[in-house]
Amino acid sequence: MNAQTLVGQPLDRTDGVAKITGKATYASEFKPAHPAYALLIQSVIPNGRIRHIETQVAQSMPGVITILTHTNAPKLPDGGRGAINPPAGRVLSLLQDDVVHYNGEPIAVVVAESLEYAQDAARVVQVSYDQSPAVLDFDLAKGRAHAPDSILGEKPDSHRGSVEDGAASAAVRIEQIYTTPMEFHNPMEPHATVAQWHGDKLTLYDATQYVSGVKETVAKVLGIPQENIRVVCLYTGGGFGCKGSVWSHVVLAAVAARVIKRPVKLVLARPQMFGPVGGRPKTEQKIMLASDASGRLTAIRHDVLSTTSMIEDWTEPSAMLTRMLYSCPNVSTRHRLVRPNTGTPTFMRAPGEASGSFALEVAMDELAYRLGIDPVALRLQNYAERDEDKDKPFSSKSLRECYRVAADRFNWSRRTPAPRSMKKGHERVGLGMATASYPAHRGKAAALARLNADGTVLVRSGSQELGTGTYTVMTQVAADAVGFPLRLVHFELGDTDFPRAPVSGGSQTAASVSPAVEAAARGLRDRLIDLAIADPASPLYQTPRADVTVKEGWLMRRDDGSRRDSCAALVGRTGGQPVEVRAQAQPGSEKENYSSHSFGAVFVELHVDEDLGTVRMQNVVASYGVGRLLNAKTAHSQLAGGIVWGIGMALLESGQLDGRYGRIVNNNLAEYHVPANADVGNIEVIVVDEKDTIFNPLGVKGIGEIGITGVAGAIANAVYHATGRRVRDLPITLDRLI
Ligand code: MOS
Repeated sequence: MNAQTLVGQPLDRTDGVAKITGKATYASEFKPAHPAYALLIQSVIPNGRIRHIETQVAQSMPGVITILTHTNAPKLPDGGRGAINPPAGRVLSLLQDDVVHYNGEPIAVVVAESLEYAQDAARVVQVSYDQSPAVLDFDLAKGRAHAPDSILGEKPDSHRGSVEDGAASAAVRIEQIYTTPMEFHNPMEPHATVAQWHGDKLTLYDATQYVSGVKETVAKVLGIPQENIRVVCLYTGGGFGCKGSVWSHVVLAAVAARVIKRPVKLVLARPQMFGPVGGRPKTEQKIMLASDASGRLTAIRHDVLSTTSMIEDWTEPSAMLTRMLYSCPNVSTRHRLVRPNTGTPTFMRAPGEASGSFALEVAMDELAYRLGIDPVALRLQNYAERDEDKDKPFSSKSLRECYRVAADRFNWSRRTPAPRSMKKGHERVGLGMATASYPAHRGKAAALARLNADGTVLVRSGSQELGTGTYTVMTQVAADAVGFPLRLVHFELGDTDFPRAPVSGGSQTAASVSPAVEAAARGLRDRLIDLAIADPASPLYQTPRADVTVKEGWLMRRDDGSRRDSCAALVGRTGGQPVEVRAQAQPGSEKENYSSHSFGAVFVELHVDEDLGTVRMQNVVASYGVGRLLNAKTAHSQLAGGIVWGIGMALLESGQLDGRYGRIVNNNLAEYHVPANADVGNIEVIVVDEKDTIFNPLGVKGIGEIGITGVAGAIANAVYHATGRRVRDLPITLDRLI
């Protein structure tokens, strides 16, 4: 049978050739006729009001079409703050008033005949401000921390049992504060929007993780019907959360295009990625762990402070994993927000789990040392057999096997536990480990499958390709389900004219879209069989339905492959009209009855030169239970990419906020460091055999984000093992080790 011959295979990307030959069209590469180029001007103060923007000279410069400021920009309904819920909708800066909330906030848009004309003109725009005192000191502001109303539907606080009682009766207690800095997304492709109006219809070519979210949000902000907007995004050059929301530049491009009655292209420059389009907030996490002498946890408290902005609450949900990761009768978690004059943070690869697993997993390592217990043994001692927070069984969990497989492969047993006890040459060797986890999410998705008159199958879903492999894996799923070879199946995405799919965020695309694609493709196969057995001209006429299948693109008898009919011929005989089937899939009662998470175990070897304080990654061995893989090659690439992010988080990444002006000082890739090849060392990813058919009919969970989790904790723990220095503040730069 055809079923499942392609799904899971490590096939090359179906879009690989298009990408490496430059044929893949990214948002900024769409070329409408006669485009204008827009450039954002950003505030240079962190708080206050714009007294005056002098645009006269700039306006008269060559090539300048218009300069939009709060004095002349079109007024939008509700001041541009139409009630839109995250993730798609955010509170934006749309030139509706003179108030400045952070350094880097968009305050004007220059529109010109070329980018260079726009840049020239932007340089001579003069802005004067009435500056107000700004909140830029985290420690001063944290006294006024507030609780968010909710964290995407979850409560900011949780309580189970009595932490006080559990701590009072404990043999061992540790309590420490862990911090992570502001971090900023740096996908290869910066944000980009091309906006084109045809009368009152708007087309947006946008670099996004959510074409439908862009459509719905922009419609609301502009106050126009959704049907008047089409959003296209064939490829996204990396998202990682920053392209999950509609930010100000998207709407401003649409507004500018409407004003000048020409298409407008607006591409953010790299420095503009640091501020107006989100990032990971700074966190300060206080963790208390208590256990009995055998290492059984008796109490956990995890209090999180994270930064948001003056204009919106956005919470880094760092303590969510603490609610369920380990078995413990007494657990309390809390999230509070500090409001500085900075841009609003947002989802950044494993929001919450990345920062939270650093804090919790270092705390677990500290507890293991205090108890004199092996770190893996401590985790097994507190293994959660069910989700004790939600009081539900896990739909799947292979974490025990992950610990075992990765520890074996890594040869964890060679580790001598005492800090500074292992050496290679004059360098100290550190071995550390941590648990990885990320929730499994799944949303409602729709797809269509169509047999064209030429005998090829077209499958469409309005999903997104972030570089994760969506085109490839959905082609595999569709080909198996319809019974066609891969080369005859084409999968298209990234267009709001296609059936709706959810945001490609929360690692949910594979789990959400695959069942819809499978259902549509199966539906098409069944329709073709129905047509064949009802067609007197078909060799399969009046064959019992159950005896007919589609294999390698042919309709045939199951028991006699020579009795077959060509799908193209069938379409030809039935009038040459394409045959089309639509389907939709969504989670059912399993969402209420089970808790679904991916889990993993990360083991790290690194070397530290104690004279120089340098940390050199040697080896990461990580194993994951992430459900069934749709494509082993793209899956490994996702997980390894997540680990690279974890290395950056642990050792390199830190957005530096100027305490006087509120500017992110290192707003470029020369000074905001992300890992290069030499920083990474060897990475080995092992995926344990797991199939979660409770969560998703194909057994898929999700792999986009779990890869970053646990990595920073494992690295910090390895650094402690190497040096005896317990670093609780990321990143672990050399100044912390000398
Ligand atoms: Mo992910 S940070 O939800 O795109």
